[in-house]
Amino acid sequence: MRLSKRINALHIAGIVFIIIFLVNLSGLDLSAQEKDCSKSLAPYVPSPYEIVEKMLELAEVSEKDIVYDLGCGDGRIVIMAAEKFGARGIGVDYDPERVEEARANVKEKGLEDKVKIILRDAMTVDVSPATVVTLYLLESSNVLLKPNLEKYLKPGSRVVSHEFDMPGWKAKKVINDDGDDCYGYSIYLWVMGEHKEESK
Ligand SMILES: C[S@@+](CC[C@H](N)C(=O)[O-])C[C@H]1O[C@@H](n2cnc3c(N)ncnc32)[C@H](O)[C@@H]1O
Repeated sequence: MRLSKRINALHIAGIVFIIIFLVNLSGLDLSAQEKDCSKSLAPYVPSPYEIVEKMLELAEVSEKDIVYDLGCGDGRIVIMAAEKFGARGIGVDYDPERVEEARANVKEKGLEDKVKIILRDAMTVDVSPATVVTLYLLESSNVLLKPNLEKYLKPGSRVVSHEFDMPGWKAKKVINDDGDDCYGYSIYLWVMGEHKEESK
């Protein structure tokens, strides 16, 4: 009797362990179902589609690429990367509401085989599979992400930022649009391996 109780407890512990392991493996962090505002790298403001397209064109995204959008909002960048440029995409957002919305948008487009949306703090993501990383955060957040980008990205990978520069990096190209009558914007492109500013 005592033995069977012990076996049952062990079984339950084993099952719980396997569930936690599988959940972690899937990138779904159940402990983060509520948005933790202390982790905010930027508020939610979607990039206009016209700018998303320009970002992906500037990075010369193609079907060979894996595009990571750190702070993906409604998933529009990774969705366009897959739909229009043939790439695969990973969108990362720490806000469960955005993740739910982005996943619904991916499903609506039938892109589940090409685009995955992950609920996670962008600061903790291993971006080593990425060939392109897109950002629309803040300059101070770009600075926080810089060590991870330098640690994980392979030479030749591209980083594109809507609006915000990366202090200490030398952009390969910058688009500046003054927006005569409405929305002015900048887009920065860096290529890993060529991104370091020469020391004076
Ligand atoms: C300015 S919006 C950009 C959305 C999308 N990339 C675009 O360009 O349309 C910034 C996004 O970053 C997300 N975000 C802020 N802090 C984050 C963090 N620590 N980890 C992951 N996502 C974060 C916000 O929830 C928001 O969706």
